[in-house]
Amino acid sequence: MKRILITGSTGLIGSRIVELLGEKYTFIPLLQSEVDITDHDATARALNALSFDYLLHLAAYTNVDGAEQERELCRKINVDATANLLIQCKAKGARMIHISTDFVFDGKKGGAHGTELPTYTEASEPNPIAYYGQSKFEAEQAVKEEVMIVRLSYPYRKSFDAKRDFVRTIRYLLEQGKTLTMVQDSLITPTFIDDIVNGLDYLIQHYSTDIYHLVGADSITPYDAGKLIAHTWHLNEKLIQPVSYAEYFKGKALRPQWARIVNTNKNIIMSTFYESLKAFM
Ligand SMILES: NC(=O)c1ccc[n+]([C@@H]2O[C@H](COP(=O)([O-])OP(=O)(O)OC[C@H]3O[C@@H](n4cnc5c(N)ncnc54)[C@H](OP(=O)(O)O)[C@@H]3O)[C@@H](O)[C@H]2O)c1
Repeated sequence: MKRILITGSTGLIGSRIVELLGEKYTFIPLLQSEVDITDHDATARALNALSFDYLLHLAAYTNVDGAEQERELCRKINVDATANLLIQCKAKGARMIHISTDFVFDGKKGGAHGTELPTYTEASEPNPIAYYGQSKFEAEQAVKEEVMIVRLSYPYRKSFDAKRDFVRTIRYLLEQGKTLTMVQDSLITPTFIDDIVNGLDYLIQHYSTDIYHLVGADSITPYDAGKLIAHTWHLNEKLIQPVSYAEYFKGKALRPQWARIVNTNKNIIMSTFYESLKAFM
């Protein structure tokens, strides 16, 4: 059985990977409570003492707004620790899979008139617009061509008490009868975490030091996503009010506005947002 050292195994995505693939691979969690990956010596000692074929690196500073205030900490976790993990992996002769994000892209419209919607493939040029995305891009730069890079986008799952993703946040607020404002002039690409896990399973078995997008099969405005969530759980969709991107993100870290990110690998099948919400039910 392949032995996979995994960072971030307690997080939203990592915990589901271990749940779903725990019988197919031997996972060795590198827990923050035991090793803080910003401590390079401790990380080196820990990895040196372990035997593993792959390092699946999910641990990250993931608070997009917080990253603007805590740039140094974000950089240490997302960039410096990732570069150090690659050094340790190479010393062990292990393969590394680095998890990244669609927030490396700027999400801006382009073309001659600046009105064409972008489509981000694995070959598109990153151009981050806020510090979290910048740090993830710098991490990609630090390891590219030596590791597999897998970008994810708006991941969600059926349940996970430790952290609410955007689907469960919207559902929760609607259940509380709260009025929500959701952006109407923007696109996101929501991704069912179980599809990400299946995609990673395929990529582990077809390892190459390339870039992959494990992202949902369609993109949707946050406002329409909210309506679909309300509809799925028979909640009051009138509680959702449209708001513009400019108004919603005033004073907050910017997210890519038109984040139409696609997976061009035909061997990896991802669900549309509607299909996976239906599967939830
Ligand atoms: N969630 C998203 O919307 C999203 C979207 C695109 C890409 N991604 C990427 O997917 C990956 C996983 O995201 P996620 O949402 O599952 O993360 P998460 O739920 O925020 O969990 C972060 C994980 O990183 C660990 N960690 C943080 N700092 C650490 C440190 N200094 N040393 C060791 N471990 C540390 C945490 O350990 P503790 O539990 O001990 O704190 C936790 O297991 C990240 O690389 C992220 O950039 C996420």
